[in-house]
Amino acid sequence: MQMLKERIRKDGKIMAGNVLKVDSFLNHQMDTDLFLELGKEFRRRFADVEINKILTIEASGIGIACVVAQSFHVPVVFAKKTKTKNIAGDVYTSTVESYTHGRVYDIIVSREFLGKGDKVLLIDDFLANGKALEGLAALVEESGAELAGAGIVIEKGFQVGGNLIRSRGIRLESLAIVESMDEKTGTIVFRGDEA
Ligand code: G4P
Repeated sequence: MQMLKERIRKDGKIMAGNVLKVDSFLNHQMDTDLFLELGKEFRRRFADVEINKILTIEASGIGIACVVAQSFHVPVVFAKKTKTKNIAGDVYTSTVESYTHGRVYDIIVSREFLGKGDKVLLIDDFLANGKALEGLAALVEESGAELAGAGIVIEKGFQVGGNLIRSRGIRLESLAIVESMDEKTGTIVFRGDEA
């Protein structure tokens, strides 16, 4: 998505350790006009599939998913991160291992808000190693709902997540795929834009 790539080039900051900081418009301060355009683009890309629910994960996925959901006119559910195991059985649970933050956490969604008959689109801001998306996909499977696909704003194409998710047969649409970035020169190469 050209508009998004231009914004990343203009306002994104390349940090040490291959981290792309986009907190001036995507995941701290949030440009909701941009989000509206992201929503329209996801709607266009998933126009051929039925979707009646959007599922994301806290924290930074929530704002984006809310605006995207308006394009689909469907509700959003967000998976909550928790350190306490739920034993009451009223939630679906999955485990996510974050390489970036070096920790493992459980994610939960109430059984009340996800189940058979739901056709779910996963939405998140970043796809790096794919663990968050895998965790969300596991919740959908456990619930008996159908996974329609996954929409990602920025995929880091040089990390394993994209291949992992695609190899599982999950339809993945990433609006910008960063192929490489150079902290010293500030250069970002997007997939499809290589010389
Ligand atoms: P994964 O979910 O794809 O496996 O990614 P990983 O564990 O490596 O990433 C952990 C967190 O770091 C995720 O947020 C992810 O969105 C974020 N992240 C990964 N790479 C980048 C990057 O280059 N730039 C930025 N800004 N974020 C990145 P999270 O732990 O779920 O936290 P949050 O949603 O509460 O912020």
